[in-house]
Amino acid sequence: MGCVIPDPLLGLSAGLVAPDEGAAEGRGHALPMYLLPETSAVAANGHLVIGGVDVLELVEQVGTPVFIYDEEHLRRRCREARQAFGPRVAYASKAFLCKAMAALANEEGCCIDVSTGGELAVALAAGVPAERLVMHGNNKAQTELEAALTAGVGRVVVDNFDEVDRLADLAAGRRAGQPPPSVLVRVTPGIEAHTHEYVMTGQDDSKFGFGLASGAAAEAVRRLRRPAAGVRLVGVHAHIGSQIFALESFERALAVLAPFFEPLDLEELCLGGGLGVPYVAGETAPSISDWSGALRRAAQAAGIAGTVVLSAEPGRSIAAAAAITCYTVGTVKELPGLRTYVSVDGGMSDNPRPVLYGSGYEAFLPREVAADRPRVVSVVGKHCESGDILVRDANMPEDLTVGDVLATPVTGAYGHSMASNYNKVPRPPVVFVKDGKWRVVVRRETPEDLLALDV
Ligand code: LLP
Repeated sequence: MGCVIPDPLLGLSAGLVAPDEGAAEGRGHALPMYLLPETSAVAANGHLVIGGVDVLELVEQVGTPVFIYDEEHLRRRCREARQAFGPRVAYASKAFLCKAMAALANEEGCCIDVSTGGELAVALAAGVPAERLVMHGNNKAQTELEAALTAGVGRVVVDNFDEVDRLADLAAGRRAGQPPPSVLVRVTPGIEAHTHEYVMTGQDDSKFGFGLASGAAAEAVRRLRRPAAGVRLVGVHAHIGSQIFALESFERALAVLAPFFEPLDLEELCLGGGLGVPYVAGETAPSISDWSGALRRAAQAAGIAGTVVLSAEPGRSIAAAAAITCYTVGTVKELPGLRTYVSVDGGMSDNPRPVLYGSGYEAFLPREVAADRPRVVSVVGKHCESGDILVRDANMPEDLTVGDVLATPVTGAYGHSMASNYNKVPRPPVVFVKDGKWRVVVRRETPEDLLALDV
């Protein structure tokens, strides 16, 4: 067994294996199919097929890099979330958002969590009824709040005292007869979820929400209930972090929140998002249904009334495994005794997660998806930084060569949504595949797009 470096963001088998011990258990094997989108299949010629579409044929037409999403996978996860949590469950659009995704989540009965004016604008442009939107943000500008209230969003999650004041100001200017916005108060329960520090949000020392322990949360409730606040307080919200595998972290949060929540006699308790997903071989995570079951049992055990709407905001668990990113290998540099660098035509601009969080990924060749992968290489991008690494110790088939289409699975969440134009690299397109057909839902950026803002 190799020396696995524990990485709290990813669990223990995060692909972060010390380079000299690359022969860890399971290395060299074919990519596990469970890391691929749900409708994935291997064609007779060995090619990867998603949604009935041969990935290589698609790539030939749209080029690389490209995000390919399995529409059916997205729909199934949204349906599962809706079934597990009911109609107030919200897809966390920060994980992946474009008009097609917002429309899909809405069609499948999910509300949509938007955390900026930009996300709000995209969801509205997709035709999502404002009532189905939940407005988040730890620093909502007056203009963002105004846009949300003017549109008539279903929920505003209030994050700080300045926002309480802003909402009161907006209420004062509201036309007579307009109903007050329904709000949830965001509480930091003081729970340290077992995850990466950068995506931990529930601990006392956090920029998000009102602390429970300090009494700020109770004070926020008091202020929001004053008539002058101009809002209707309907519930409590907490989000303890992201990429959490241990359901026990959520159960602890519920146990801490319950004594605060119960006496308030409110109708809704939202536990945010945060359910983890496997990124590399060997990882497993609970399903959305497992998650909701655990939350329900914990709520009951904590004495929360059965009439309370227990909701959630899954992002990653809906979108991550739905997509793969395909690149083209441009050059292979072998450094004998050191490492082999396999450079692809994307990198940290379309997937900043390895650089930001040290996240592990797998890589494979869609032309022989079931092939063993005995060759250990570093898959790197085209950016002007040594740190521009997509997969540090990737297992690849022996015959990997320049010109190959190389893919990384589980890139559907926080990939496209966190993409940048670093080095003026155009952002890749997003393609949805379903029932043997594909459609571009976000086109590739062009040099003209890169110049569009220059004046
Ligand atoms: N609700 C709230 C209030 C959130 O802040 C988040 C994520 C979610 C829901 C959705 O969480 P999820 O189910 O996706 O874990 N860029 C990081 C993740 C940041 C998560 C931010 N908030 C990453 O790539 O791992």
